[in-house]
Amino acid sequence: MLSRRLRRLRATPALRSLVRETHLAVSDLIYPLFVSERITSRVPVASMPGVFQLTVEEAAREAAAAWGDGIQSVLLFGIPVKKDELAHQAYAENGIVQQAVRAIKTAVPQMVVITDVCLCEYMSHGHCGIAQIEGDHVKVLNDDSLELLARAAVSHAEAGADIIAPSDMMDGRVEAIREALDDAGFENTPIMSYAAKFASAFYGPFRDAADSAPQAGDRRSYQMDPANGREALREVALDIEEAADMVMVKPGLAYLDILWRVKERFEMPTAVYHVSGEYAMVKAAAANGWLDERATTMEVMLAFKRAGADLIVTYAARDVAQWL
Ligand code: PBG
Repeated sequence: MLSRRLRRLRATPALRSLVRETHLAVSDLIYPLFVSERITSRVPVASMPGVFQLTVEEAAREAAAAWGDGIQSVLLFGIPVKKDELAHQAYAENGIVQQAVRAIKTAVPQMVVITDVCLCEYMSHGHCGIAQIEGDHVKVLNDDSLELLARAAVSHAEAGADIIAPSDMMDGRVEAIREALDDAGFENTPIMSYAAKFASAFYGPFRDAADSAPQAGDRRSYQMDPANGREALREVALDIEEAADMVMVKPGLAYLDILWRVKERFEMPTAVYHVSGEYAMVKAAAANGWLDERATTMEVMLAFKRAGADLIVTYAARDVAQWL
């Protein structure tokens, strides 16, 4: 009688490591940084313990420290002093992100600097595009917004950004950005598109960190409905047609099925965004002694890899790098 036992290969750490299917490496990590023009020294983000709004100089130092941990890529978000209805600071030559890109590339030239391209942090109303607002009714204009997004992308590339990451979810923005980059001589600057980005409650803490909560309405007329998986595949297909070089699924944990389907179907370099709410949940539970922070975080990272992620954007990047 054959004894069918899966446990034979689980007996020791060495045996388990011989048959392990998925591996996490520090080169998988992208570390987001919030750079603020409104502060003179770092300000903690209350809902994201361990995360800070940074000055330009601090961002350069943080990037250098992350490089020291083995992290090879940062993703920048900006918090400007001045917001208006055309998001001027998003594409200002001396805008906060443009300054931060230059400072980080000077401090750590090899660091891959990715810039989030969106308008919400720079708009007085907090929407990701040009908006017409009448009371509670918000109309976000698609094609008019593309021009501003393209300008922001070019200004980031001019400052020295290595990868452009549009997160606004306007239709056609990858194509508009690609054309604008090419026209400006940045044919070799890749685009990492937030291709399947859902209208998620898990972004709550980020909107505190980036001061980007919409003043009226919500983002459901441009970000995806959490109920839709097939539509996510259409979003990704369109972005690839529009010449996205890398695609992203966001959020992560509640959308592992989408991540898996995107990787299986398109076999593109695929990133997942471990978003602010996912980070905050583990931090809060750990602070209460309810979860082991390190074990939980590492399990989540591994789950992303197993589900098909090549890259993981996470606020826990420096901790993970040190735990690896
Ligand atoms: C900007 C943007 C958001 C996030 C990344 N880029 C917020 C949003 O869409 O409301 C969320 C990141 C996070 O929650 O960690 N549009």
